[in-house]
Amino acid sequence: MSSLSPYPLTSRRCGALKGDVTPPGDKSISHRAVMLGGVAEGVTTVRGLLEGEDVLCTVAALRELGAEIHKDANNIWQIKGTGLENLRPPSKALDMGNSGTAARLLIGLLAGRPFTSSFTGDASLCKRPMGRVITPLEQMGATFKSTEGKMPLSVTGAAQPKAISYRLPVASAQVKSAILLAGLSVDGKTTVIESVPTRDHSENMLRCFGASIAIEKLADGAEAISVTGNPRLVAQNIVVPADPSSAAFPLVAALLRPDSHVMLRNVDINPRRAGLIDTLIEMGAKITLTDQRQEGGEPVADILAEGSALKGITVPSERAPSMIDEYPVLAVAAACAEGTTRMKGLGELRVKESDRLSLMAEGLKLCGVKVEIDGDDLIVHGTGKPPAGGATIETAMDHRIAMSFLVLGCAAEQPIRIDDGSFIATSFPDFVSLMNGIGAAIS
Ligand code: S3P
Repeated sequence: MSSLSPYPLTSRRCGALKGDVTPPGDKSISHRAVMLGGVAEGVTTVRGLLEGEDVLCTVAALRELGAEIHKDANNIWQIKGTGLENLRPPSKALDMGNSGTAARLLIGLLAGRPFTSSFTGDASLCKRPMGRVITPLEQMGATFKSTEGKMPLSVTGAAQPKAISYRLPVASAQVKSAILLAGLSVDGKTTVIESVPTRDHSENMLRCFGASIAIEKLADGAEAISVTGNPRLVAQNIVVPADPSSAAFPLVAALLRPDSHVMLRNVDINPRRAGLIDTLIEMGAKITLTDQRQEGGEPVADILAEGSALKGITVPSERAPSMIDEYPVLAVAAACAEGTTRMKGLGELRVKESDRLSLMAEGLKLCGVKVEIDGDDLIVHGTGKPPAGGATIETAMDHRIAMSFLVLGCAAEQPIRIDDGSFIATSFPDFVSLMNGIGAAIS
């Protein structure tokens, strides 16, 4: 968020990592739990909510819209929802901080309500493309005011939003979710067609709160996901599993340090999020999934990561949506692997919290790694040995760039410094203490 004060961090080469830890709650599921709890009837409870800055922005926004939200003495979040009809117009701009998910999903939800809502965010969020949600939501009857499709913006929902059928031009769970959430206010069925599967937490959670969601396989292999408008959304008890995108950092760090043995508990292994695990196993990682089970409607497992000798591979572009947030840390793993890793089809990385494609390539080069960008592919040439390190990395308000280079610092010959660690608080507030608790040397 814009209020975070910058501070640098340095990560030094450490010994074997050992420990048994539970990464923080899943960010995607946390946002959705707060939003749907906020508009449902009754009191939703949420255990394991991610208390990162991004989700706290969603909490603040739902409060502004009329939901009553507090954390009780047992660390369980209690959300007294308004009922969809009773969301109230916000009296000030909703500040989404650094969070694209909070912004795009809430813009969708409010595009169906017959009042005007204004949105703002930090410098990183205000550079990100919002046209991808504006286009379908305008088709549903909402009107927008924005500067060239970016935040700050305002949206006014139509009195009678229209049902649409929309094929996603980019594989994006945020865009899919924005349309489905707007579809809650439509008299009829709203359909989103996706050619490549993206994370399905919105569909799962909408169902769980009582909305009718239909999924149809089309002849061309795409999926049509439909929501029936005006459902009665009823409060639920939600348990949020650990975030695979956050687990990725201690996991990769453990693979990179010989003799490491780190157990990561209760991690979401939804197949639409698990691309990194598949990829690392193909690279030769010693990763063992134990006690696979269902919790709160999501498949979860305990994941054991051990020090491994990794080798370079080609990662197909179809896998990108299932690991889109994990490429920065995969690039770090690739930098320590033997041989070349080609990560294909990463165009979307250019419009994340930063231009992750360029920042990863530039940062790795500064650390002595041979890297190329070929169109939308990132190519990392590893030597099988940790790179030199010894650089200061520009993180550009991006938590995952920050954490990825701190992970590389665990293995590199010379310490790696990042210019600003404050944005780590958006998704993984306890990152430094969790990492140091298993043996990292980050200060
Ligand atoms: C998210 C979807 C992804 C991901 C983001 C969280 C979500 O974005 O990068 O961190 O919760 O729906 P896109 O759907 O835009 O790829």
